[in-house]
Amino acid sequence: MNPRIKLKKGYTFDDVLIEPKRSSIISRKDVNVSSYLSRRIKLNIPIVAANMDTVTEATMAITMARLGAMGIIHRFMSIEEEAEQVRRVKRAESFIVNNPCALEQHHTLKEAKAVMKEYGITSVMVVDKQGKLVGILTFRDIRFEENLEEPISELMTPKEKLITASPNITLQEAKEIFRKHKVEKLPLVDSEGFLKGLITAKDILKISQYPSAMKDKQGRLLAGAAVGATGDYKERAQALVEAGVDVLVIDIAHGHLDLCIEAVQTLKKTVQDKVDIIAGNVATKEGTRDLIDAGADAVKVGVGPGAACDTRQVAGAGVPQLSAIWECAEVARERNVPIIADGGIKDSGDIVKALAAGASSVMIGRLFAGTDESPGQSIIRKGRRYKLYRGMASLTAASDRSIREGSLRTENLISIVPEGVETEIPYQGSVVDILFQLEGGLRSGMSYCGAKTIPELQENITFILITDAGRRESLPHEI
Ligand code: XMP
Repeated sequence: MNPRIKLKKGYTFDDVLIEPKRSSIISRKDVNVSSYLSRRIKLNIPIVAANMDTVTEATMAITMARLGAMGIIHRFMSIEEEAEQVRRVKRAESFIVNNPCALEQHHTLKEAKAVMKEYGITSVMVVDKQGKLVGILTFRDIRFEENLEEPISELMTPKEKLITASPNITLQEAKEIFRKHKVEKLPLVDSEGFLKGLITAKDILKISQYPSAMKDKQGRLLAGAAVGATGDYKERAQALVEAGVDVLVIDIAHGHLDLCIEAVQTLKKTVQDKVDIIAGNVATKEGTRDLIDAGADAVKVGVGPGAACDTRQVAGAGVPQLSAIWECAEVARERNVPIIADGGIKDSGDIVKALAAGASSVMIGRLFAGTDESPGQSIIRKGRRYKLYRGMASLTAASDRSIREGSLRTENLISIVPEGVETEIPYQGSVVDILFQLEGGLRSGMSYCGAKTIPELQENITFILITDAGRRESLPHEI
């Protein structure tokens, strides 16, 4: 045997089952699935929508955060566009909208309608040149208006007819005003009349509708966003922090790269202590250790397990995902840094196995790609609806990116070596239902293990290596 060559065995989710244990859990509701995404962020449901351009933009991130999970906005757009996606999440749910969309009186109905459409809102604040509130233009004011050139000052409800409040208003006081005056919008103005914020009845209602929502200190939904490890990543990170992002993901296929380690160190200095930095992807102890030493607040694990990944075929490199999680978690646990198991989750059973093996949360792409909330394009084929899903290193993703950046001409597609594929996923309705099933399965799995919490799940776990016959038996059969 050549002593310079080592041979290791690696296992993935389908290779094992978890041995059930005595349990005192009566109902799945008694199980607490909360767990850390990063050093400072604890999710109520430890599931994260992947930073892929067919999975997560603001709509997905908003829905995930409302339900107690989270989404990481992808980075394959301009810095300004990505920052705007983060701002959308941040605007979605705070009980106070800090920077409500505002136009000056002279703007036309046409311009107001364009702003409403772009931001998906039903009203615009109207202010004078200095920023003092002069009125509100609501959908009701313009419903039957046909002259698009009309200045909004002629259509708005003027300030004199509005109920306003101080920017220091509490949630309880705001609720009382909505109850008493039956208004839909409550603009917040300071003592000099400057517009300082807005509260909407809808946002107040949503707060009680989503009791598990992941929120920041200001009551806004949590938002994560991705940056690269080269090029504009520092400016991007800065813009995302200014937009209010809570966690940044350094998104690079091979995270155990000198330049990724340097990027972690640089970003830790750039963002100071304002947001957590997640680094990856790695699949080894050494990779995990180096990223943690560089300052990572969580490490993303997974080289090649993803549904749209082709890395293992193209590059011959990778580690079966269960072994990768297990190895990386060993190092991360010593340093108290969470591990995110990224890729290859096919069903809720895989989530239970990933967490049992030591991950604190899981990142998912494919399972969410067919939903209403994903930004992937819908197509109809033979009367059935599908949504596109593609690896971020697939030919179309890589070429779209290079063409947008101006570094590739369409005739040079042959210069791309893809490590991902593109596919169509049957349309699956809302991610709300998918997440419900995944969370339910996780609760069930924990109850089979007698674990009331994720740390309990990770204690004393026995994986059983199964055979082909065992695997066949594990699936529905003879029916
Ligand atoms: P699932 O299985 O949930 O995995 O769809 C999502 C994860 O897959 C990774 N990813 C890729 N890996 N080539 C790869 O080797 C690619 O083109 C690619 N695109 C995404 C990524 O880690 C994601 O979170």
